[in-house]
Amino acid sequence: MPRHDPAHREPTPEPVAYGLLALCRAGFENEVAGELQALAGRIGLDGFLRTRAGQAFVTFECPHVIPWPELAEACDWRSLVFARQLLPWFARVDALPDRDRATPIVEAARTAGMRFGSVALETPDTDEAKQRSGFCRRFAGPLEEALAKAALLRPRERGAPELHVLFTDADTAWLSACRPGTAALWPMGVPRLRMPREAASRSTLKLAEAFFTLLSEEERAATLRPGLRAVDLGAAPGGWSWQLAYRGLRVTAVDNGPMAPSVMATGLVEHVRGDGFTWRPRHAVDWMVCDMVEQPARIAALVADWVGSGRCRHTIFNLKLPMKKRLEALVQCKEIIHKRLARGGGYELRMKHLYHDREEITGYLTLTTPKKA
Ligand SMILES: C[S@@+](CC[C@H](N)C(=O)[O-])C[C@H]1O[C@@H](n2cnc3c(N)ncnc32)[C@H](O)[C@@H]1O
Repeated sequence: MPRHDPAHREPTPEPVAYGLLALCRAGFENEVAGELQALAGRIGLDGFLRTRAGQAFVTFECPHVIPWPELAEACDWRSLVFARQLLPWFARVDALPDRDRATPIVEAARTAGMRFGSVALETPDTDEAKQRSGFCRRFAGPLEEALAKAALLRPRERGAPELHVLFTDADTAWLSACRPGTAALWPMGVPRLRMPREAASRSTLKLAEAFFTLLSEEERAATLRPGLRAVDLGAAPGGWSWQLAYRGLRVTAVDNGPMAPSVMATGLVEHVRGDGFTWRPRHAVDWMVCDMVEQPARIAALVADWVGSGRCRHTIFNLKLPMKKRLEALVQCKEIIHKRLARGGGYELRMKHLYHDREEITGYLTLTTPKKA
């Protein structure tokens, strides 16, 4: 093989990046921009934000190159509430030709100075961009082939970074690289979950997504198993109760509204007609989940009190956010929870704007074992 063949040139030794790129639900760009700005501040990153309302992505662009490991270290999609995906980007390719998009993308990928273990093709989640999802499916194979031919793709190399190619329009691609395990679980952060027929409401997918997104595999195995007990506040018609019963948990479903017969048919759900704000279990339970439509501050206080008083160990809850003050409401809810639990043994709070969330976010709160002195 001739050494000057550009397809076989060795990647440069120092991987670099130019900033951060985040995907979100269209209409939530301001919230993601606020979070990106705060993240950049925490890691001492200079640069500027670029976004447009409704485009479903936000970029943070640095005036100078940054060593990629520095950004990759700080980039985990779980660290931002409103982002569905968070990546360190290293190249933007404009004016992609219709006939051969692979060549310029491969050339740009080479400038990252690294070899990749996998490649994912993504688009922002807008109606306009969705029209390119067919193209992404068709283009994935040819792009993988071209990257492999250029010795940039090594699928069997353990720990190799993932390459993400985001098509923001028909002829523009942003290239990002991240450490394995730090990108969203599904391309574009859009879960592939089957709607179970017996589950009563589409809301069931929200809790299913929360289990995958907010809990690790080990946490799911330890806390979602047959024999454990759960309370579902605001349960009707029963989509969330069904998710718990499906995993073998016994559920007390609290709601004045009717539960779906298919959910009651699991034999694991007891329906109690009552007020979710005042109803209390006789004995402590493992889980409390809450999907009542109420002021977010009221829900935050309720879940913190359940955990703080030992009524439950883990909770997943939905916070319906006011449209114009979403970040402020999030901060206020965090403060309410912190005030109630700070003097206890320690807690862990994770929040995410899930794909199945609209004007709301979903939280997971759990007690952690107190550290021994
Ligand atoms: C969004 S729905 C819940 C959907 C449910 N998670 C599912 O998957 O089918 C909200 C529910 O909260 C209930 N709710 C609202 N306020 C309540 C309260 N104070 N006590 C009990 N239930 C309440 C409503 O009756 C309604 O059924």
